[in-house]
Amino acid sequence: MAKQALILYYSQFGNTAKLAGHLHQLTGADILQLKVPAGTFPDDMQETDKVYQQQLTGGHLPPITTTLPDLNYYDLVLLGGPVWDGKVASPVLAALQMLQGYQGEVAPFSSGWSDTGKYQEDFVAHAGKLKVVAGYHVLTHANPRFNQLAAGSWLRKL
Ligand SMILES: Cc1cc2nc3c(=O)[nH]c(=O)nc-3n(C[C@H](O)[C@H](O)[C@H](O)COP(=O)(O)O)c2cc1C
Repeated sequence: MAKQALILYYSQFGNTAKLAGHLHQLTGADILQLKVPAGTFPDDMQETDKVYQQQLTGGHLPPITTTLPDLNYYDLVLLGGPVWDGKVASPVLAALQMLQGYQGEVAPFSSGWSDTGKYQEDFVAHAGKLKVVAGYHVLTHANPRFNQLAAGSWLRKL
């Protein structure tokens, strides 16, 4: 990966943050956590799911409170988040909207519990004209788990 890359990620419970940290160590890329206003999501998976479903049904994605740097400086953005219902978590959907107009490549990464579902397809479906490349998707309680060799191999192709 001989590119100027930025790692952007949202993490509710820390798993995607850990994965983003591994990718940061492997690449030395700049890294930034995407935040939403406090209280947006309850501290509980099922309750979070209710909020998520309401957001999707109502078309109200949560605002991202993190200020993004000038993306023109980067030719690759690694955009990570948790798998929610086999799909992309709403803060990452909001980030995809913020990234519209970005000319570089966008590489998704995700962490799930046991099933990545249709994360990559959903990411592409919400990416508009962004140039999305193949992502890196790991699970905490099933395979594929995070693996340095696999992550390195993915990063080298970017
Ligand atoms: C609303 C919601 C839906 C979820 N749906 C899935 C799912 O479909 N498949 C899965 O493997 N894990 C699912 N999970 C679990 C998370 O994807 C998993 O714990 C992830 O690593 C959490 O990342 P985080 O710690 O960065 O928030 C869901 C969690 C939440 C809160």
